[in-house]
Amino acid sequence: FAARKASQSVLGAVNRRAFSASAAQLTKVAVLGAGGGIGQPLSLLLKLNPRVSELALYDIKGAPGVAADVSHINTKSVVKGYDAGAESLKEALTGAEIVLIPAGVPRKPGMTRDDLFNTNASIVRELAKAAAEACPNANMLIISNPVNSTVPITAEVFKSKGVYNPKRLFGVTTLDVVRASRFISQVKSTDPANESVTVVGGHSGATIVPLLSQSGIELKGEELAAYIKRVQFGGDEVVQAKGGAGSATLSMAMAGARFAESLLKAAQGEKGVIEPTFVESPLYKDQGVTYFASNVELGKDGVEKIHPVGKVTAHEQELLDVCLKDLKTNIEKGEKWVKENP
Ligand code: NAD
Ligand code: LMR
Repeated sequence: FAARKASQSVLGAVNRRAFSASAAQLTKVAVLGAGGGIGQPLSLLLKLNPRVSELALYDIKGAPGVAADVSHINTKSVVKGYDAGAESLKEALTGAEIVLIPAGVPRKPGMTRDDLFNTNASIVRELAKAAAEACPNANMLIISNPVNSTVPITAEVFKSKGVYNPKRLFGVTTLDVVRASRFISQVKSTDPANESVTVVGGHSGATIVPLLSQSGIELKGEELAAYIKRVQFGGDEVVQAKGGAGSATLSMAMAGARFAESLLKAAQGEKGVIEPTFVESPLYKDQGVTYFASNVELGKDGVEKIHPVGKVTAHEQELLDVCLKDLKTNIEKGEKWVKENP
């Protein structure tokens, strides 16, 4: 009885929030790859978000089933599933303010994210082309790996169609900060809700750079090395544990939903909304690194302010130097590929 009461009160809260969303907050969100491991729980979480008024779920397989399922959840948003096909994709994208792309293959043990490039680059390129035509002003949230390359690929596609707006293209690196705060809370036996660790760089191995010193936390020696390694290779932990069945999906769905929620809050006028994300960035442009993840203040027009990296220790600077070298390679690989394979 107690459990039923608790669940009723949770649903009651969801309902109350859903019905209080005003007309000014009507927002269409599209998920491309909605039938997949990330796409399904991400669609569920977006259905629970009262800021979303319309949810368009597209995949080359399974999206109508996912849409029918989540559409029964008693929140106000309208959900529609879209089968494979250019017309269907166009319909899913038309009018979207936010497009989340988790379409593509995940890693298996022994693979790097860059090993996914050959398959995922063309998937993201095709979806980006469709979005550039159907919803050129949408906020594009790229989840498909390798993010360090799929974001520049998306930018080049939008540029080729004359609609690129760097303020509206985001590589989703939220999972890295989610992990960073959870892992430090395990080291320190604290509540992760109170732990916020800045993570900058990109989204793969050595390009993920946690800046623990900025949280006033001092780990030393092996403990520090183990922490940094865990943040940089947290994705591998999940890939190993899933033993060939894919990579992080549930925690990624939570991270993607959090980022979408932050964008919606900012779009709806809330100030001071800051998320780390991989965007076109001036921070290391002089070193030839044109995209970089750092804390970004979000606003009505997408990127409002890119925060500088700030003060780092000598060791963190060493990590950054390695990161920048790898990032440059990943970014240039994406740009070169899409220019040769438009
Ligand atoms: P998955 O295989 O479970 O799902 C991918 C879905 O994409 C499938 O349903 C598939 O049908 C669909 N798809 C393939 N080609 C498509 C196309 N052209 N149009 C629309 N849909 C298409 O994989 P997953 O576990 O959901 O992971 C998806 C991607 O997200 C992978 O590349 C993975 O590496 C990446 N990922 C990124 C992060 C991050 O932090 N950014 C975290 C986890 C996973
Ligand atoms: C992650 O960080 O979990 C994702 O990028 C998926 C992966 O391949 O590790």
